[in-house]
Amino acid sequence: MCGIVGYVGARPALDVVVEGLARLEYRGYDSAGVAMLADGALATAKRAGKLVNLREALAEEPLPAGTLGMGHTRWATHGAPNDRNAHPHTDCAGRVAVIHNGIIENFAALRTELEEGGHKLRSDTDTEAVAHLLEDELKTTGDLAEAMRRVCRRLEGAFTLVAMHAGDDDLVVGARRNSPLVVGVGDGENFLASDVAAFIAHTRDAIELGQDQVVELRRSGVTVTDFHGRPAETKAYHVDWDVSAAEKGGYDYFMLKEIAEQPRAVADTLLGRIGADGRLTLDEMRISDQELREVDKIIIVACGTSYHAGLIAKYAIEHWAGLPCEVELASEFRYRDPILSRSTLVIAISQSGETMDALMAVRHAREQHAKLLGICNVNGSTLPRECDGVLYTHAGPEIAVASTKAFLTQLVAVYLIALYIAQVRGTKFGDEVFAMIQLLAKMPEKVDEVLGTMEPVRALARSLADEKSVLFLGRHVGFPVALEGALKLKELAYMHAEGFAAGELKHGPIALIEPGLPVIVVVPPRSRAVLHDKIVSNIQEIRARGARTIVIAEEGDTSVEPYADTLIRVPAVPTLFQPLVTTVPLQVFACELATAKGHDVDQPRNLAKSVTVE
Ligand code: G6P
Repeated sequence: MCGIVGYVGARPALDVVVEGLARLEYRGYDSAGVAMLADGALATAKRAGKLVNLREALAEEPLPAGTLGMGHTRWATHGAPNDRNAHPHTDCAGRVAVIHNGIIENFAALRTELEEGGHKLRSDTDTEAVAHLLEDELKTTGDLAEAMRRVCRRLEGAFTLVAMHAGDDDLVVGARRNSPLVVGVGDGENFLASDVAAFIAHTRDAIELGQDQVVELRRSGVTVTDFHGRPAETKAYHVDWDVSAAEKGGYDYFMLKEIAEQPRAVADTLLGRIGADGRLTLDEMRISDQELREVDKIIIVACGTSYHAGLIAKYAIEHWAGLPCEVELASEFRYRDPILSRSTLVIAISQSGETMDALMAVRHAREQHAKLLGICNVNGSTLPRECDGVLYTHAGPEIAVASTKAFLTQLVAVYLIALYIAQVRGTKFGDEVFAMIQLLAKMPEKVDEVLGTMEPVRALARSLADEKSVLFLGRHVGFPVALEGALKLKELAYMHAEGFAAGELKHGPIALIEPGLPVIVVVPPRSRAVLHDKIVSNIQEIRARGARTIVIAEEGDTSVEPYADTLIRVPAVPTLFQPLVTTVPLQVFACELATAKGHDVDQPRNLAKSVTVE
């Protein structure tokens, strides 16, 4: 949700900033803009739409070359996505430029105050107020970092801000509350960005900024303070992937590359989890075994695709760990009255670790003294820092907005956590846990097998490109898979798509069935005979009403053959692991169908990968 880049060094800043923005465009693509400082003057360029529009504008009207600059790619909150509301925003004199990610909640009052004080605001954004507030503070302090600290103390809401001032050509200032901001440390040059991907081509040394911190970025180094100017503690780390991981590597879209990477991502997430004693190890665990034994309820909070991973986790946790488990949309969680106590374990799942709804749910759970465990893909993000324990998924950078490989690795993470809790609480014997882990270790091969058989799925998707609606059905863990399949199709193909629990169909949704309507059904393994047979009946019910049945079933399941207009085979795997193989055809289906409709699957309309506002 908005990408931010700042640079100070010796290279042409415009190149560094625009290249950084290209890597952050997944965070928002409503508009893009840059500010450069050269010869004591600030110059800005900004354009509505994707970065390509800004590049064209810069080619027509180049900015003066400088070695200090910043850039922004926007997901609009306040103000329409047009040129005027694009960032950077400047003060009255055009000597201060600001970019922003987040929402400044008290901006209306600040704006009124500024206008009454004679400032002329030119946009509809909340951000512009900051440029004018900095202008006022600079009159008294003359120091941009101190001005930023004073302004931040007046702001309410979530914000990452980066600012430059025409009076200092060796200074970029950043500030952070709630939204992400990382520092890239180079040699004679330093970087600021919402995500390390923006500077990974130049340095893999990063500093994680904490809440309510202000950073001064100069060529010679980096200084971090809190909002009151006191030196602040930061955490330095080395990024363990390189620039090739953030590039398309020969694929037309990141999404295609990320779907193809799933066997490796699943394998990497499993790597090193089993100790010599056969016990599982999580990454950072500040919850003791004794505390885990005292847990009497688990609540999972997450959004979007991560929420679907949470729904699947419920089945695994209840089955293996024998604990009641609720799954809640993070955005709903703190607005009701969830019953939490010291013996509640809240598991927050977030690929980015920055989704504001998930972070607010975690903070709410913290206030109620619950224990907190995070599942996250981004090292250095906010969520892991706010939890008592974390299990990192090792999907590598996920750039396409619609989540694929992160989802599969989240499933691995929830299986590991469920088995870990089962082991600690003794609801499964050590050898039973070990046997499950061995089966899990075979899953990368199975996912690979699925990927090798996707051509008919792609052909099917192309043939359905003109359909108006597709339904998805599943039972047990196949139900969240159906929800995920429908979400992918909505996100990418902008089609009406809905996922239902197959058993619930008869209670209403069956009225949607009309001749020719494509219905994709995820069939449980035959080993779950009752479930399996019930869904075969459901397939017959919809087929009798004219639906076009597209059936995903394990190899060797002949019972579905008479009722499937199209049959998609997946390898036979244990029931709880089946989402790892049944989700893949649905990802491929949505991706191909959207591509056939001419959509950009990496950057679907209206969406952003990391949603840092509530
Ligand atoms: C956005 C993305 C989704 C993602 C959701 C949760 O809406 O477009 O793909 O599933 O956020 O993101 P998280 O980073 O918390 O997993």
